[in-house]
Formats: sequence, structure tokens, C-alpha cells
Amino acid sequence: MRKAPADIASIEDLRKRAHARVPKPFMDYMEAGSFAEITLRENRRDLDSIRFRERVMFDVSDRKLETTMLGEKVSIPVAIGPTGMCGAIWSNGEILSCRAAHDFGIPFSLSTNALLSIEDVRSSVTRPFWFQLYLEKDRGFSKELLERAKKAGCPVLILTMDLHVEGTRYCDVHNGLGVPPKLTPANIWSIVSHPSWAFAMLHSKRWSFGNYAGKVKSGNVAEMAELVKSQLDSSFDVKTLEWVRSLWPGKLLVKGIMDADDAKMAVDAGADAILVSNHGGRQLDSAPSTASVLTGIVDAVGDKAEVYVDSGVRSGLDVLKFLGLGARGCFIGRAYLYGLGAYGEAGVTKALEILEDELSIAMALTGVTDVRKVSRDIILRPPPAPTISAGATSGGPFRDVRVYEES
Ligand SMILES: Cc1cc2nc3c(=O)[nH]c(=O)nc-3n(C[C@H](O)[C@H](O)[C@H](O)COP(=O)(O)O)c2cc1C
Repeated sequence: MRKAPADIASIEDLRKRAHARVPKPFMDYMEAGSFAEITLRENRRDLDSIRFRERVMFDVSDRKLETTMLGEKVSIPVAIGPTGMCGAIWSNGEILSCRAAHDFGIPFSLSTNALLSIEDVRSSVTRPFWFQLYLEKDRGFSKELLERAKKAGCPVLILTMDLHVEGTRYCDVHNGLGVPPKLTPANIWSIVSHPSWAFAMLHSKRWSFGNYAGKVKSGNVAEMAELVKSQLDSSFDVKTLEWVRSLWPGKLLVKGIMDADDAKMAVDAGADAILVSNHGGRQLDSAPSTASVLTGIVDAVGDKAEVYVDSGVRSGLDVLKFLGLGARGCFIGRAYLYGLGAYGEAGVTKALEILEDELSIAMALTGVTDVRKVSRDIILRPPPAPTISAGATSGGPFRDVRVYEES
């Protein structure tokens, strides 16, 4: 495997390179947030606002970045999160990203909506990955997916709970990446003008949602997209979570939690871990940043479950900030997709190396020698708290104010 060029220094460098290689409709799909993208921006703004406490009076020559995530040993406290359609960024991207993650010593999560199926990926990698489930309206199909993930040996199920309905990404509508997808003159031109991407895509194992293969007679992409959308289930509630728990013998991570009360309900329903996430700003726009709600949720959950976080990680310093706010580890979405879009497997490896180096440097300069011992002590200035401390049962300032009195 060819390495990424030596002058790639940051995730931002990978992002720029990915933009040069991948056609605009797919880059837009990756970059976008929902609606006015307020939450997308706020994820970054709040991480940027955090200030470390710099400590220099310690020997930090021997630094340990290894820890465990849901019982699995990891080389850094980072996992690759589930991203649908990652095979559209680079052909067979799911397999390449999984290999890069496993070689680096961290978990890879396969999305229900990946282009490659559970079986496609499992047969091409040496050990099982984590599987993310979008609960399907057709419960029989949900059960079938769980069975397939079990058969593939997936040790962790990530149950995404923040997609009862889909947040609108305006650029996808403009680019014809809706349901059904449209081949507009603009996106045909965009594909033709990115030949290395287009030629590589000819080697893709699949062009459509692999986990749904056989569910649509024609196998046609438009019909498949229609099916995927029609399977979103807005009746999905805590009882459904209990049902999934009863079917899944492995570890269960509930993703998309932004509220302390929801976190406690998930734990009571049997979640082994919580992933504090606003879907990278792609679902409820004007939801708070994950940085601003994380500590409240960590405090509410206590030692009953592990708490992870995503949304906005673009550097190893961001990883350390999230650890300082109480997370056990972080998941990454776009940070790895930029690497994938830029250089395929080598780009994902590069993204992980960058995060590792930056985390190690930030640890040294905050006087931390072991990621497992990071405490709130390293944070001098936390992110601004949301006006209502999300779900705090102790009550935020507006909790008891009834705005509209019933007469
Ligand atoms: C292109 C893209 C596709 C995604 N697809 C899924 C998905 O299929 N399932 C899911 O649970 N989350 C999905 N997510 C959300 C990610 O798992 C994660 O929550 C988010 O990317 C974190 O924000 P970040 O990109 O700023 O790191 C997707 C995110 C992106 C950017």
C-alpha cells in the first residue's frame, strides 16, 4: 500500500485533498449538516472555545495512549463511527477503512446503510467489526440484520436512536442525491471531471445498499433508496430498545443521545454504553453541541455505563478535550472520511496517525502520561453550557417555566 505524502500534516490537509479527488455531490453529502447547519458549526465552535490547563513540571517522556473501549483493547481512545455510503467516497471504502482501523488497533463500525454488506466486509477482513443498526420498520428485517451481525461475529451493536425521521440536507436536494437519486448534468460533469475517482469506482463490489440486497426485486438504486427511506421508523422508542436488547447477546452501544434523562433511560433499558452524538450536526439543527452536554450526561450516567462522544473531532487535541470533559473515548466520522477520500486505505491510516501524534503532544503539554487517567483537571475553560442544562433532572433555569398556560 502506498503511503500518504509526507507533507500531509493535518486532517484539514486530508479534507482539501479529498475535495480535489471526489466529485462534489459526494463531498457535499459528507460535509453537510442539516437545515441551516447551526449545530454543525456549533460542534466546532464549542470544541474550539475549550482551553487546556498547561502543566510543565512533570516527566512526560513515557506516555500511554492505549486503553479499552467496550472491553476491546485500543491503541488510542478512538473508534471509526458508522457512515452510510462510505463506499461512494472510495470504491470498497468500507473494507479499506476497516483494514486500516484494525491494523491501527481501533474498532471499525459498519453502517446498516453502507454500500457493502456485512458479509462483503467480513469476508475481506481478518476479524469482526462493530455493526450499527438503523431499526427497520419491518421488524423481521431488523431481526435478520441482527442475526447476520451475530453470524459475522460482531462483538458490539451500535443502535442509532436519532433517526426517527431524517434531517434535510439542502445540498443533497440540490445535487439530486434525494430519493430517488437523479443524474443531473451538473453531477455528470462533476463525475467526468474526477476521472481517478470514476475509474476506481468501476472496481466497486457494489453500487447500492448492500445490506438490503435481495429486498428489491430489480436491485435498482432508485428503488433501493426508496426502500431504505421507507424503513425509517418514527415509532422507535425505549420499548423497542428493550426489544433489541433482548435479541442482542453482545455489547450494546446506544448512539444519538443528547440528554441526560434519555441517557438514564437507555442505561435502564440495558445499554452497556452511550454515544453522545448529534449525528455530526446532520439531524436536529439547533440541538446543542456534544461538547456542551457531555459532562452533564457523564455525571447522570455515573459508573452504570461507558460514555463515548462524537461530532466535531478534527484533531487529537479535540480527542483530549472530550476525554477531559469525561468521555471514555471518541468516535470519528468526517475525520476518517477525508482520509479515505484523499488516499483510500493509506489516507485512513494517515488520519489515525495524525490523531495519535496530536493526542500524544497534547497529553505531554497538559502533564498527562496515561489516557486512562485524564481528568477534568486538564480543562481550564469548558465549553459554554447550553441555556437549559440538557436533561438535568436537577432542572435548568427554564425547566419549570410554563410558557403557555392552559386556560
Ligand atoms: C457521510 C456521513 C454518513 C453517516 N452515516 C451514518 C450512518 O449510516 N449511521 C449512523 O449511525 N451515523 C451516521 N453518520 C453519523 C456519524 O456516525 C457520526 O455521528 C458523525 O459523523 C460524527 O461527526 P463528525 O463527522 O463531525 O465526526 C454519518 C455521518 C456522515 C458524515
